[in-house]
Amino acid sequence: MPVVDREFVTALPKAELHLHIEGTLEPELKLELARRNGVDIEQDTVEDVRATYDFTDLTSFLAVYYPAMEVLVTEQDFHDLALAYLERAAADGVVRAEIFFDPQAHTSRGVPFSIVVDGLWSAVQEAPSLGVDAALIMCFLRDMSAESARETLEASLPYRDRIVGVGLDSDERGNPPEKFAAVFAAAKEAGYRLTMHCDVDQDDAIGHIATVMDEIGVERIDHGSNILEDPALVAEAKQRGIGFTCCPLSNSFVTEQMKGAEITELLRSGLKVSIASDDPSYFGGYVADNILALAEAQQLTREEVVTLARNSLEISWAGDEATQGWLRRLDEVAAQG
Ligand code: HPA
Ligand code: ZN
Repeated sequence: MPVVDREFVTALPKAELHLHIEGTLEPELKLELARRNGVDIEQDTVEDVRATYDFTDLTSFLAVYYPAMEVLVTEQDFHDLALAYLERAAADGVVRAEIFFDPQAHTSRGVPFSIVVDGLWSAVQEAPSLGVDAALIMCFLRDMSAESARETLEASLPYRDRIVGVGLDSDERGNPPEKFAAVFAAAKEAGYRLTMHCDVDQDDAIGHIATVMDEIGVERIDHGSNILEDPALVAEAKQRGIGFTCCPLSNSFVTEQMKGAEITELLRSGLKVSIASDDPSYFGGYVADNILALAEAQQLTREEVVTLARNSLEISWAGDEATQGWLRRLDEVAAQG
């Protein structure tokens, strides 16, 4: 018997902190945008689109993920994509969404940086009408060069006030965090908050985690559950309050399992673990689905589910005042029946 139901999970105010906007492209919207922009994607039905969802690891996922973005062309497309996500997030009780976007996946296809940011930003500005406070995090693609990341950082500076932080995603194989140490130092200098992906079960995952904590100086790690391999790093992450954004359903697609036992062990060790959906249109669920899947698989207590939501709010970059308000609401919901 699950200890929490969907109604309770939805009622908890929560922040979603690991969400790639390009990974929210549902098949229906993909088909609509393909028609709108006259892009031939050689798929005519939702079933055709889903038939391309054939992946077993991060690399094979990315091989499906990037080509799908071809349908995103205009400012309106980026707006519609983000607004559709924000509506889903609101329905799941998300009060704060920190949304990753990958400018290089678009600029490399000839879509200007300004089109991407202007489109996403117009949706971010509409988010409060849905009861969501939204923000943008710009990710660099780690399988592109450090120079390209540097150019992207430069391109972002006129939009500095619309972007809260920077992250690092895409294929980790052969692309360790130190490749981007100088770019992240420059981003920090420009006032950006820092997070980075440390994907699950990568080569030298634990070495990458040590680097992002000790050399890059991130505040959060996206995924990061391999930290369990080094108890001293677990203790350091706890002491420093480093946030973790874990994605159970995503894990079950790119590895053999959702890594529920690992996520639960981190949570029970007192680390600031939060749950998010990563690329929900590809991995079969939004944030409430992820929390429910983990809670059921690991028989989490009601209190532990509340802690996941509390952690997400505490490690968000929304600022103290908003966070304190959400935490009070969380306590009220948790106190009910
Ligand atoms: N890891 C790396 N790259 C990604 C991911 C991820 O979880 N999602 C989208 N791009
Ligand atoms: Zn991710």
